[in-house]
Amino acid sequence: MPIIRHYEPRDRAAVREICCDTADAGEPVEHFFPDREVFADLLTRYYTDFAPAASWVAEQDGRIIGYLTGCLDTRKFLRTMALRIVPVAILKALVHGSLWHRFVRQNLRLPKSHRRQLLAEYPAHFHLNLRAGDRGHGTGRQLLEKFLSQAGELGIHAGVSETNRAGRKFFERDGFVVLAREERFRTSDQPEFTILYGYRSIA
Ligand SMILES: CC(C)(COP(=O)(O)OP(=O)(O)OC[C@H]1O[C@@H](n2cnc3c(N)ncnc32)[C@H](O)[C@@H]1OP(=O)(O)O)[C@@H](O)C(=O)NCCC(=O)NCCS
Repeated sequence: MPIIRHYEPRDRAAVREICCDTADAGEPVEHFFPDREVFADLLTRYYTDFAPAASWVAEQDGRIIGYLTGCLDTRKFLRTMALRIVPVAILKALVHGSLWHRFVRQNLRLPKSHRRQLLAEYPAHFHLNLRAGDRGHGTGRQLLEKFLSQAGELGIHAGVSETNRAGRKFFERDGFVVLAREERFRTSDQPEFTILYGYRSIA
């Protein structure tokens, strides 16, 4: 059984690696974008470097096998992304030569801040990813339970790629309801969608 514990700075490299290895519904980022550093910065830096208190890892035999990166205040997340994280990622992409990659051109815009109603009702959010060989043993649910108890009565939202059937089943079995379908980052020229789920404690 893995140990489920709070994220610590020593877990940073493993979290970034798992993020890139599971970037697109569990498939590696190289599937659509070659710059791991820029991708990991955009997807994990807020949780690892700015507000780590709501993030959790699963550790087995000294190895990190999965994480839940959580946030209890999505408005603060959006401000930090806009002011601190996206500008640095743009600079890095420029230096690395990945700024002109199709993925960046199609997707590098600030995270959506227009969801006022949603953020009022569901101010917390999270991402959950396990290494490929470590899924289906209850670890995802254990990580989620830690975050749910930490969030208490706060509403929580989370997005899953529309084509990620396993991910969607996971959320639907655990009491999340569909809030919206919205365009997500593209890995091809076609529009792609996220199903946005919401959860509220009934306690
Ligand atoms: C989705 C994910 C986080 C689930 O974690 P997990 O440890 O594999 O799931 P658990 O073993 O805790 O399963 C919890 C429930 O979800 C169900 N479930 C998990 N994976 C499933 C799958 N592939 N298909 C159908 N149901 C699944 C389980 O059956 C279980 O329900 P049950 O107890 O009623 O049987 C994990 O598989 C993963 O990291 N996938 C790749 C990345 C991803 O899709 N992330 C989610 C989007 S943010």
